[in-house]
Amino acid sequence: MARRNRRAPRRAHERAPIEPQRQVWRRSGYAVVTTVAVLLASCGTVEQPLNSWDPQGPIAEKINSLFWPVFWIAVAVFILVQGALLVAVVVFRDRGEKDKDRKNPKQTEGNTTLELIWTVIPTLILAGIAVPTVATIFELGECPADSMDIEIIGHQWWFEYHYPDTGITTANVMVIPEDTEICGRMTSDDVIHNYWIPKLAGKRYLVPGQETELRLYAYEPGEYWGHCAEFCGLSHSKMRARVVSLTLDDFDAWVDNQLQVAITPEEGTLAAQGLELFRTGACVGCHILDGVNNPDPSTLAISAPDLTHFATRNVFAGAVLPTGLDPTQADWEAGLAEWLADPPTVKPGSFMPNLGLTADEIDALIAYLGTLK
Ligand code: CUA
Repeated sequence: MARRNRRAPRRAHERAPIEPQRQVWRRSGYAVVTTVAVLLASCGTVEQPLNSWDPQGPIAEKINSLFWPVFWIAVAVFILVQGALLVAVVVFRDRGEKDKDRKNPKQTEGNTTLELIWTVIPTLILAGIAVPTVATIFELGECPADSMDIEIIGHQWWFEYHYPDTGITTANVMVIPEDTEICGRMTSDDVIHNYWIPKLAGKRYLVPGQETELRLYAYEPGEYWGHCAEFCGLSHSKMRARVVSLTLDDFDAWVDNQLQVAITPEEGTLAAQGLELFRTGACVGCHILDGVNNPDPSTLAISAPDLTHFATRNVFAGAVLPTGLDPTQADWEAGLAEWLADPPTVKPGSFMPNLGLTADEIDALIAYLGTLK
């Protein structure tokens, strides 16, 4: 049996169908209301930590100052082209009976003047945009010789930072001195990632087997949020990053502290039990704690964050969970407990497995991790 045609006219006793023209207006109305709602929702006054329109250093400023002229040129082109289209649609619309004697308009195909105009104008616009864009790409593409190097290594799903001048290794939070040109020397341990701290710099790939350079610069002390900007597997959305910029004195103090070995908790405390668990359990197979285990990193089962100064970082687990350092996160221990109980529920695909820890063991590990200042 043939299926009933869904567009077939309804019978007289059914509700009268809406005229096609009214339907078009109604649908256009829905589209406009939805678009405006989405635009308004994205203009909220809440803090926007991933806002590239709020540059906090000269690199991000350069990119931002390229964005706005290009944006306004695009807006002007959009208004002119769509305006001409709307005028044509309204003025030359088919008025049915009224237009039955109207002749076809004069055809302009092959009009050399018109062809030249709409070829030359876009060419000039694109050439005008290309000059400052290409110059900025080259300027930002390579680090100046006197910048401070930090190696940035992408892992599924967290960022590792290594400071070649001092030998410091840390994770999730990159600490930099204010008002200093930083050169991120980037690579990846597994797949392609992309490092993006919108208030400080543009995006750049981290490619396995290659080194890419990313210039970063923060005018002031502060905390800047970032995110991996290339789909890199199951927990790409949970691969976040923080950059913390410190005054020069604070940065020197940070370096001095990071160079110390891990704190040894007092005997008999819960934290001491945590250390014992760390030492005798599976943790040492992947994580380094300077002064507790110092393996050659290449002998670790997987690359995992160096935990020597875990409690000096305000976030962990790909910068998605807070540590006790963040005073606004009263229940940070709950996050750490959830993580230790079963990491893949927090970060799907996590290479840190569920170790089957008991609640007491988790308490002891939280107490110990909290001491690692
Ligand atoms: Cu790493 Cu997306």
